[in-house]
Amino acid sequence: MPSRGNRLSQRTLLRERLLRILAEFPGRTLGVAGDLIADQFLYGQISRVSREAPVLVLEYRDLVNLPGGAANAANNLLDLKCRVKILGVVGRDEAGRSLVRTLSRKGADMSHVLSEAAYATPVKTRILAGAHHSAPQQVVRLDRVAEHGSFRNRPLAPIREWLKSCDAIILSDYGYGAVFPTLVESLKKVADSKEIPLVVDSRFRMDEFEGVTAITPNITELEAALRTVIGNSRDLLEHAGDRVLRGQRLRYLLVTQGRFGMTLFQRGREPVHVPIFGSDEVADVTGAGDTVIAVFTLALACGGSAEDAARLANYAAGLVVMKRGTASAALDELRAAVDQDLS
Ligand SMILES: Nc1ncnc2c1ncn2[C@@H]1O[C@H](COP(=O)(O)OP(=O)(O)OP(=O)(O)O)[C@@H](O)[C@H]1O
Ligand SMILES: [Mg+2]
Repeated sequence: MPSRGNRLSQRTLLRERLLRILAEFPGRTLGVAGDLIADQFLYGQISRVSREAPVLVLEYRDLVNLPGGAANAANNLLDLKCRVKILGVVGRDEAGRSLVRTLSRKGADMSHVLSEAAYATPVKTRILAGAHHSAPQQVVRLDRVAEHGSFRNRPLAPIREWLKSCDAIILSDYGYGAVFPTLVESLKKVADSKEIPLVVDSRFRMDEFEGVTAITPNITELEAALRTVIGNSRDLLEHAGDRVLRGQRLRYLLVTQGRFGMTLFQRGREPVHVPIFGSDEVADVTGAGDTVIAVFTLALACGGSAEDAARLANYAAGLVVMKRGTASAALDELRAAVDQDLS
């Protein structure tokens, strides 16, 4: 058992390390490739029960469009003040234009975001109902699924050249078609030749990404990939983590577990479990996984250890789940959280 004094100095050292990593965030450039999604939140106030069917009639209050998927990871990075290069596709529709507008205004390099007529920007619309003074609750979600365009034929050599100035690359695969095998190979080539981290989050096929730096599945995705049930068993989780780490030749595996925090696996080391930061009385968990991959990868790009990167990602995720909608943590906010928690 470490003595109390020892524990205190370990906390101080951890705080100093984490703050040093955060200080490096503004100088980095990250590439973000993948599915650019529009997260829509449609708010209505409950006015009465309909006479047409046993449903509520909502009075329109507000419609909010937020960046989702790869666009959310990018948005999180922009709020952490790093430079971002985005690779992806949008449709020639209002959702696509809104995404491009939002991210360009924040300074992202969008020169390799294709706008394709044959493609529809994926939109996830949540309809939220609330009475006066009560928190709105999601009633139903409507997804508009993308059509595949011809963007898969785009030449990849110029993209590799463009990504060479990046300090790390994120690949965010929500299964809407922007991530395809030749693109993945290209990103791996850039990451290998420049010896920079390539970190992948994949909703439906985490098992297809071999030899990348890290993947960041949630527990459900891990269970689906291994066709097994892990539940809350630490033993089963550790067994599964070890299997994936070796089987997919990863350096790190970060398994997020919602309100149970996250577990980091690394070759030759004991797994590290990081409990959630803050309370589990959350406002909205939408996109917490995007925050995790953004902060984890950015911290690795700053030379942080995987464990320190996971701790920072966990602080950031703890902050965004307190906010409504798909959200991000600002650099000052993250700094204050680390500083206060470890003082
Ligand atoms: N209820 C909660 N309370 C506190 N922190 C939470 C809660 N839910 C999630 N988090 C934080 O967010 C991280 C990621 O959450 P989660 O495992 O739900 O990701 P995900 O399922 O990939 O999310 P996404 O909807 O973005 O795909 C967790 O590891 C934890 O740090
Ligand atoms: Mg996720």
